[in-house]
Amino acid sequence: MDIIFHEQAKEFHLFNEKLSYIIKILRNGQLGNLYFGKRIQDKDTFAYRMEWKQRSLTACVFEDDPAFSLHQTRQEYPSYGTTDFHYPAFEIEQENGSTVSDFKYVSHCIFEGKKCLKGLPATYVESSDEAKTLVITLFDSVSDTLLELSWSIFSAYPVIARNARFVQKGARSIRLKRAMSLSIDLPDGDFEMIHLAGAWARERQWINRRLEQGVQSIYSLCGASSSEHNPFLALKRPLATEQSGEVYGFSLVYSGNFLAQAELDAYDMTRVQIGVHPEKFKWQLRQGEEFQTPEAVMVYSCDGLNGMSQTYHRLYRSRLVRGMWRDKPRPILINNWEITGAEFTEARLMEIARTAREFGVELFVLDDGWFGQRNDDKRSLGDWHIVNLEKLPSGLTGLNQRMESIGMKLGLWIEPEMVNKNSELYRAHPDWIIQTPKRVASPSRNQHVLDLSRQEVVDYLYEVISKLISETGVSYIKWDMNRYITECYSQFLPPEQQGEVFHRYILGVYSLYERLTLKFPDVLFESCASGGARTDPGMLFYAPQAWISDNTDAMERIKIQYGTSLVYPISSMGTHVSAVPNQQVGRITSIETRVNVAIFGVFGIEMDLNALSDEEKEIIKQKIAFFKNHRAMITNGDFYRLKSPFEGNEAAWMVVSAGKEEALVGYYRFLNMANKGMVWLRLVGLEETAQYRINETETLFFGDELMNAGLVVRDGDLASGSGDFASAVYYLKAVNK
Ligand code: DGJ
Repeated sequence: MDIIFHEQAKEFHLFNEKLSYIIKILRNGQLGNLYFGKRIQDKDTFAYRMEWKQRSLTACVFEDDPAFSLHQTRQEYPSYGTTDFHYPAFEIEQENGSTVSDFKYVSHCIFEGKKCLKGLPATYVESSDEAKTLVITLFDSVSDTLLELSWSIFSAYPVIARNARFVQKGARSIRLKRAMSLSIDLPDGDFEMIHLAGAWARERQWINRRLEQGVQSIYSLCGASSSEHNPFLALKRPLATEQSGEVYGFSLVYSGNFLAQAELDAYDMTRVQIGVHPEKFKWQLRQGEEFQTPEAVMVYSCDGLNGMSQTYHRLYRSRLVRGMWRDKPRPILINNWEITGAEFTEARLMEIARTAREFGVELFVLDDGWFGQRNDDKRSLGDWHIVNLEKLPSGLTGLNQRMESIGMKLGLWIEPEMVNKNSELYRAHPDWIIQTPKRVASPSRNQHVLDLSRQEVVDYLYEVISKLISETGVSYIKWDMNRYITECYSQFLPPEQQGEVFHRYILGVYSLYERLTLKFPDVLFESCASGGARTDPGMLFYAPQAWISDNTDAMERIKIQYGTSLVYPISSMGTHVSAVPNQQVGRITSIETRVNVAIFGVFGIEMDLNALSDEEKEIIKQKIAFFKNHRAMITNGDFYRLKSPFEGNEAAWMVVSAGKEEALVGYYRFLNMANKGMVWLRLVGLEETAQYRINETETLFFGDELMNAGLVVRDGDLASGSGDFASAVYYLKAVNK
């Protein structure tokens, strides 16, 4: 890995074993992009890769060069208003109302390692040889604004992480109206765009569309990254598959409003941008003030979509997730939400916990309903200092002690960002919610959003949650967030700063998370937002796992987990087994199939094990033991998607240990068919010459046979083999490695 500056040509070549990225300082002092793709040999100049043609209707930068128009120049961080008519990467409104700017190269520096971003989550390095960073400083002399663009290339991953920082030098203030984290112009448009769309209980469904001339975008404007869209898009070559071909990934390390778009222009250039959504965003910068964009992470893969996903998995698992839980297998938990809702007694919780403990479950998560008068969702949110002693006569401390006495850890649900009007907190601080003066404050799930853009609110929450964790001694926190932001306005900011509230809110969430995770490094945090409405890289920086959906139906979960795996490692996905008929879709699936889906993630349970038949109890007991034996591989192994549930009646995936000495394969069939053919499941990622034993049977199979001829899936292997919703898990162990 290196970053070479060719002084004569004014070109920067960033490369590692897998990728090259080439930037040029253009004749007008702005930055162009010459190449982003598979690693190529370095040389003095690649300037000829940019071709300018004199075209009708183009405006040109120089009187003496009618062909040099920014509109047909592949740029790094373009602006609008001079000669480029595409969407810009940024926009600065100056005091006279102008939004034209012209940032010219001033200097650059190249250093070992990678810096953190103040107040924002970002990927990191543990030693300076893991990455190299290029920072280019540009300056706009009219607005007196400095712009620092940063590219970090990792040595071990085909990844470039980018961000931008604006600093206002001049005495006149400016307003930043758009500040994307990344903009890149690719030289052709032969791509399909893949993104993850959905809704509550249907999160991160895989969407694939051909790129056409025009803008195709996804976004969130609800204050969270949302269940409707995920801050990610990929461009893949039409012939690229899961295992082969060229794919570019763009992921934003951010949890608030975002925009991700790909614009294919008239000359077959593709401009990709990702960053904070410019709509409802306006940031005032006075002299000396700065604005830091979130980080965007670009991945290049010539090994198809799986190649891209595995890069995100490895990077996010080891260099975005932090803390003691990063590399540790996570506890198997049982959560009472789908069992009791908010109606429970201490005795009932202990009854559930005792059996779960006998079955090998390690953590009991007490969900919503333990505080104030919380018997329904109309009251008490915010009253984290009041334990409901009618339900929990021994209090939380007592409950924790009782759990500990049976060998169970206790975890707790909180929703710190919210308040019900019917709560002590709201009665004491009615002005702490986000609301626009003289307008109605629209309720959602009967609750309102606390104004976390305000330091005082963050400080209060830090104190009250710290006290709760210290006093109760819980070892896990499920941090929920169950509504989006409406009537966005902070009563504590002046009118000219109201365009900052959405972003300041997320900064407040991050700072609360940062302070709590620092203070309680042993506590495992799981993020949640009505299921998966904030399953994003930003959250992973603080909480190593996420409750990815409220939908626990095994068949629906296959799609949700498959889609989520496009970017997120399975070690970050909370995946639980619940009772049937399923609460969300009413479907009945066998206990084996439910477990066979859930073990590809952070396994947990959302049902009362006392209610199972003896046969089911035996199955789940064995499966828990099986998961424990293999969870190290599931947490740290390489995950491969094999068959897409979005394309047919079957789905399959597998995880392979780092040394390829073992693997776990999951196969799923939605509906049964009469008189069907054989299923040959072609595996990947194995050692060609290693011999694998499958499910402890006699016959051995070489890795190359399993990868080329395939694993035979027989009806007899399947749970519910002769019916619908069938599944099998195969455990492969190399005998000669
Ligand atoms: C939404 C979460 O996704 C559920 O798991 C549960 O915690 C409820 N909130 C509780 O209100």
